[in-house]
Amino acid sequence: MADSSAAEPSTAPAPAPAPATTAPATATTAAPAAASSSATANPAPTVPQNTGILEVDSPANSETASVVSSIFKYREQSGRTFHAYRDRTGTGSDEFIPYFLPNDESETERLDLQHNLVLLTQDDRLHISPAGKDKPLKRVLDAGCGTGIWSVDFADENPETSVVGIDISPIQPSFVPPKVEFFVDDLELEWNYVNPFDFIYTRFMTGSIKNWPMFFSQSFQHLQPGGWLEICDIVSPIACDDGTMTDETPLLKWSKLLLEASENLGASLGSPKHYKQQMVDAGFENVVQIDYKWPTNPWPKDPKHKEIGAWTQANIMQALQALSIMSFTKGLGWSVIEVETLLAQVRRDVKNKDVHAYWPIIVIYGQKPE
Ligand SMILES: C[S@@+](CC[C@H](N)C(=O)[O-])C[C@H]1O[C@@H](n2cnc3c(N)ncnc32)[C@H](O)[C@@H]1O
Repeated sequence: MADSSAAEPSTAPAPAPAPATTAPATATTAAPAAASSSATANPAPTVPQNTGILEVDSPANSETASVVSSIFKYREQSGRTFHAYRDRTGTGSDEFIPYFLPNDESETERLDLQHNLVLLTQDDRLHISPAGKDKPLKRVLDAGCGTGIWSVDFADENPETSVVGIDISPIQPSFVPPKVEFFVDDLELEWNYVNPFDFIYTRFMTGSIKNWPMFFSQSFQHLQPGGWLEICDIVSPIACDDGTMTDETPLLKWSKLLLEASENLGASLGSPKHYKQQMVDAGFENVVQIDYKWPTNPWPKDPKHKEIGAWTQANIMQALQALSIMSFTKGLGWSVIEVETLLAQVRRDVKNKDVHAYWPIIVIYGQKPE
């Protein structure tokens, strides 16, 4: 893997032009091998706690229309164009990566919309961990940076910090803040950075990384003592608290099948359930997990979750086909027609405000001991 701190990285700097730039829940602390929990080291997040049962909105709520239109307002306002190149592994092999990034504008646009959805979920915060609170962050890694939107936003907010973004796809912008560098590289290979990082951030990499214990151990190795790792991800399968989604609901069937396909393909979408323990096993301390909910449409009554739901609906509708076709045909042996038939039913459920489903979203952070 590239050493971005060396004069000449072995991997190609990412070309391509492009882009731009919240309702939490319960924070739990895993006991590290010999570490205290986080009451003082990790002040409880100030974001609203909203992992409880969500109240359902009345069917005739007129706010929905304006919330949904706000999504399109954002998308119109983003006004950015992206160049993306399909690169399955970055190694020239034809190995299949199940949670691949399509090489089209629609997917890169969706990733940027999703970035904004995270900001909305996290009350406009780019990260939740205390990284940078006690001492300045000199070097930050965005592992699996996608369009580079988090790196660019982070650098804008922290102009003194060097930000390195790594991805197997060169879909990052060329015009970036001075201290941002992007490199095309594979995080599953050995990391060869010479200089350690103060903070490593990684987001929505489930289904991409096959060997998570290795990822956590390499992150630990390449952090400064006292440095932080933060991971944000989506938990499968999709969830529901009030019985309006059952095993017979196509949306849940689809989500469980997608999970099964990802397992068959070797990079399980079930990985987030193990992150916390795997971080502790890798040596991190002060490990904290925060749970959020992304309702599948604006079904909740609470205005913030309603807005998150509207954005999530747009996110899922845009992602559905890209996520499913390759996974179902290669991971489960389905025909394209069989997949499209299921997706037609799934789209109906995603739009149905009587199905009170949500994606569990987790943020977990931990610290390398001083
Ligand atoms: C769902 S996207 C998330 C991108 C970004 N973290 C975000 O939140 O917008 C997953 C990204 O991981 C990249 N990726 C997948 N496998 C990778 C690997 N082994 N090494 C580096 N990047 C990888 C993909 O190219 C894609 O950009």
